[in-house]
Amino acid sequence: MKTQVIKIDAENINENALKPAAEALKQGMTVAFPTETVYGLGANALDGIAVSKIFKAKGRPSDNPLIVHIADREKVSELTSFIPDKAVALMDKLWPGPLTLVMKKSSVIPKEITAGLDTVGIRMPEHPVALELIKLAGIPVAAPSANVSGKPSPTAAQHVLDDLDGKIEMIVDAGSSRVGLESTVLDVSSDPPVLLRPGGVTPCQIEEIIGHIEIDKTIMNKVTADNVPKSPGMKYKHYSPKAHVIIVESSDINKQAEVMCYLAEKYKKEGKKVGVCATDQTFDKYCLYDTISMGDRNHPETIASSLFSIFREFDGRRADIILAEAVDQNGVGLAIMNRMVKAAGYDIVKADLVNSIGG
Ligand code: TXA
Ligand code: MG
Repeated sequence: MKTQVIKIDAENINENALKPAAEALKQGMTVAFPTETVYGLGANALDGIAVSKIFKAKGRPSDNPLIVHIADREKVSELTSFIPDKAVALMDKLWPGPLTLVMKKSSVIPKEITAGLDTVGIRMPEHPVALELIKLAGIPVAAPSANVSGKPSPTAAQHVLDDLDGKIEMIVDAGSSRVGLESTVLDVSSDPPVLLRPGGVTPCQIEEIIGHIEIDKTIMNKVTADNVPKSPGMKYKHYSPKAHVIIVESSDINKQAEVMCYLAEKYKKEGKKVGVCATDQTFDKYCLYDTISMGDRNHPETIASSLFSIFREFDGRRADIILAEAVDQNGVGLAIMNRMVKAAGYDIVKADLVNSIGG
């Protein structure tokens, strides 16, 4: 299969150029498209055969449900059997945007989407090209992130090509994704609602609107037999570059950098190719190593938007080890650290516990 790339200017959308992508979706094909979080791999959400093509292209386990994307609030009542008041309040304030709401599904949702669950995740993206594409297609669009299963989500069309060229019909390219991490997933089918995956919308923003929410314990902790995530996707090794990721955590950024340098030196001596994920505040401390700044600690959204593309960049540079500085878990920091610990397979070095570094 030849993958066609359609370039669209998000600031001045050419509807005629976008129409073939909408048509392809209507005809049951797979089309990757930009959203404000990451690129998605879309198919007609009402067509089980079209949806199964997504699983095949990504190599995605069939027990991991998909999010349904809409451009029009009216669609929610067709896709669900019950809309809680708290969901309505959140849609009023935070849609369109990086928030997926899990609700009881209606009978129009094919079983391929929900992986046997009685709920469905719905989101109205904020990206103008995503909204226009869904409107033109006139159907709800199922879309996971457009990466090969397990790899970091794509934040640019080139990442999608790197993973899925020849496996999908089309890619709509409208530049880089602003948020850079996937949407927040909130299960509102139970009360209090449960945060299943942190993302661009923070727990604080949600609690300001609907009051207390629970946070699924598996967000920052290892999945074990008695700690099973409610969101099936969270149990898989995820967001992983080819390199082995090691996170260094500390309450003191000088100590953190000291331990990062110690590890970088140690692996270098072992003949490993090391990549360092620094922050603007610490970048200068790593001049001896191959280093990229993830962004500014005081503006964690800058780190969120670059994290996955840096993982992919270090893969391109054939790094064996990626050493990454942990950042504060406040606000969008919770989502950043959730993705980092999963990419690292929970390999976290606590720099505060390292007393002295010798030879
Ligand atoms: O930002 C995003 O959400 C992107 C863009 C393309 O919209 N999509 C995305 O989809 O990240 P995906 O499939 O990569 O992640 C969806 C997550 C998975 O962890 C899945 O298990 C969970 O949402 N999920 C979907 N439906 C669910 C449901 N009914 N109950 C619980 N978890 C659900
Ligand atoms: Mg994904």
